[in-house]
Amino acid sequence: MVFEIKARDAAGRLGKFSTPHGTITTPALLPVINPNKLLISPQELQQQFGIEILITNSYIIYKDSNLHQHALENGLHHLLNFSGPIMTDSGAFQSYVYGSVSIDPLEIVRFQHDIGSDIGTILDIFSKPDQTKGEARAAVQETIKRAKMSVSEKKEMLLALPIQGALYPDLRTLCAQKMSQLDAGVFPIGGVVPLMEGQRYADLVHVILAAKQGLDPSKPVHLFGAGHPLLFPLAVALGCDLFDSASYAKFAQDNRLLFSWGTEHLSNLTELPCSCPICSKYSVEELLQETPMSRTQLLAKHNLYVCQAEIRHIRTAITRGNLWELVEQRAIQNPYLFNAVHQLKKTSYFKWLEQQESITKDAALKYSGTFTIYQPLLRRLNHRLLTHYTPPSQNALILPPTQSPYFKRYQNEIQAILQKDPTTTILMNSPMGPVPLELDEMYPYAQSEFPENPDGETRLITKKFIQKFIKHHHFNEINLIDVLLKHNDLTNIITLLDIRRVAAVADMQFGKGYGKILLQPPVEILKSKKTGKIRRVLSKNHHVLSMRAQDGLFTLKIAGGTALHKNCSPPFLRVVVDDEASPFVQEGKSVFSKFVVSCDPNLRPYDECLIVDQNDTLLAVGRCLLTAQEMQSFTVGVAVKTREHISV
Ligand code: GUN
Ligand code: ZN
Repeated sequence: MVFEIKARDAAGRLGKFSTPHGTITTPALLPVINPNKLLISPQELQQQFGIEILITNSYIIYKDSNLHQHALENGLHHLLNFSGPIMTDSGAFQSYVYGSVSIDPLEIVRFQHDIGSDIGTILDIFSKPDQTKGEARAAVQETIKRAKMSVSEKKEMLLALPIQGALYPDLRTLCAQKMSQLDAGVFPIGGVVPLMEGQRYADLVHVILAAKQGLDPSKPVHLFGAGHPLLFPLAVALGCDLFDSASYAKFAQDNRLLFSWGTEHLSNLTELPCSCPICSKYSVEELLQETPMSRTQLLAKHNLYVCQAEIRHIRTAITRGNLWELVEQRAIQNPYLFNAVHQLKKTSYFKWLEQQESITKDAALKYSGTFTIYQPLLRRLNHRLLTHYTPPSQNALILPPTQSPYFKRYQNEIQAILQKDPTTTILMNSPMGPVPLELDEMYPYAQSEFPENPDGETRLITKKFIQKFIKHHHFNEINLIDVLLKHNDLTNIITLLDIRRVAAVADMQFGKGYGKILLQPPVEILKSKKTGKIRRVLSKNHHVLSMRAQDGLFTLKIAGGTALHKNCSPPFLRVVVDDEASPFVQEGKSVFSKFVVSCDPNLRPYDECLIVDQNDTLLAVGRCLLTAQEMQSFTVGVAVKTREHISV
């Protein structure tokens, strides 16, 4: 089994998952196939809908003597006439629906293996949301026991080990930790169908996050029974990679159409608000005139088109780095989902979500509602303004909010005040919170789109934070009107501002005081002739940092890495590689996850880092592609892209 992350945003992953019958792209939707009633043929699913992987129920096949015999003799792929990967479920859901199933837990695992399933599932115990803690604990214990026994029976088949635990976060996390110690191929989150049926999405958020916090991040996570596109963006943002859908068929049977914003009954529509091939060809009246069988088929197709489009929407958002924006847009369209997204404001989730969040993104940070200010990236920045940022002095001029780029409108005033007192701290009271002048080109301050007047909650949060920030740094506010407008000796002011900018951005990126370490005199700042923006920073005649034009953040050069390495002790900024990998890194090759021995737990995706051997000898500098936990868990794929190595 190989699962590799190709791109990421929030806790969402765009990945490649290899199975014996081929590699699929995640996030992915697995349509549920009932071998007794094929609504849409597997070939059509593959060719018309771009479906790469199916899921079917091995218990149904096992119980039906014809299907049983066919599957054993010719294999599952022959039975379904599908050459791609097929996942099988075990009958645990039937057990929940009908009270029990008459099958041995190991027998059904062996059967899944014998019919050639790519990913089999153990016969877990479905833990219902209304269970007492004792009942839920018993379900978890029995599920873990079965998982341990099943692993010995699975042979080369990938095995899905579901995470149960009802609504008890500690049980979910414990179950996830225990399952992570076993040879799993996939981790489904189980027992959540009643939550989805009851639109209890806020509870679902707690369940997913509790499970994710205990899971080995190097395996894909499946959300069992999630087939409504409404849920996909949020579930992916929280780290789910796979979904299975019987909903496309079930809803179609009830004449209901799935949409990214919810569900609509055909009889309540006068027109079809969709441009899929079905809705483009048929009108509501025409659909109503079809036979029930044909209508179900047509609506099922619409439902799948919508689901697949939403999956593509999510993958695009992950690549661009605006998945939170998509989540928030969807939440505005559905009150239950709105409740769910707003659970994420809780400070108890911030730590984990922040660890998953990249340092920078391709897309600008766009305001999309009251949740935007709570996005992990903005909360991290505000936190770093207290812990990483050092103001030039306690005299602070706080400028009223304006559109970004924030300081352009106040250029003359800023120059004048800095001439009077060059140490003045200049801050913009932006809708995102305080932005020091030195940081106004750094992501996301310059790459953001906020309205001048956001909602009341955002304004209140920002106001409270600026008060906290002023108190924390003991600022004396000074008044703009006191400033004399004089314009001489501008070059000195600009140089001073540049040095302040370099030091402040470096501190925000690496930590308080690290700007100073990197800026040992003599310092030279080279700018782009075209844009006037900082490009390269030299210290003691060595190129230590380069500033990226697109996000105003630094890339670390080997001379900068050497200075940081000398001045701060492990594990700070380090990714430690196995001795076997050192020679490759010394040639400039990237670091594969399997060679990462340990790393600084504070490294985030896209952070700059120091690549060292096990004796803490600096080998190279590079850019992390994964979270600290992922770098240490994955056995495939690149963990750090090496930027510059020490010549040996
Ligand atoms: N399908 C929907 N929910 C579940 C679950 O909790 N376990 C299994 N095995 N299948 C499911
Ligand atoms: Zn449609």
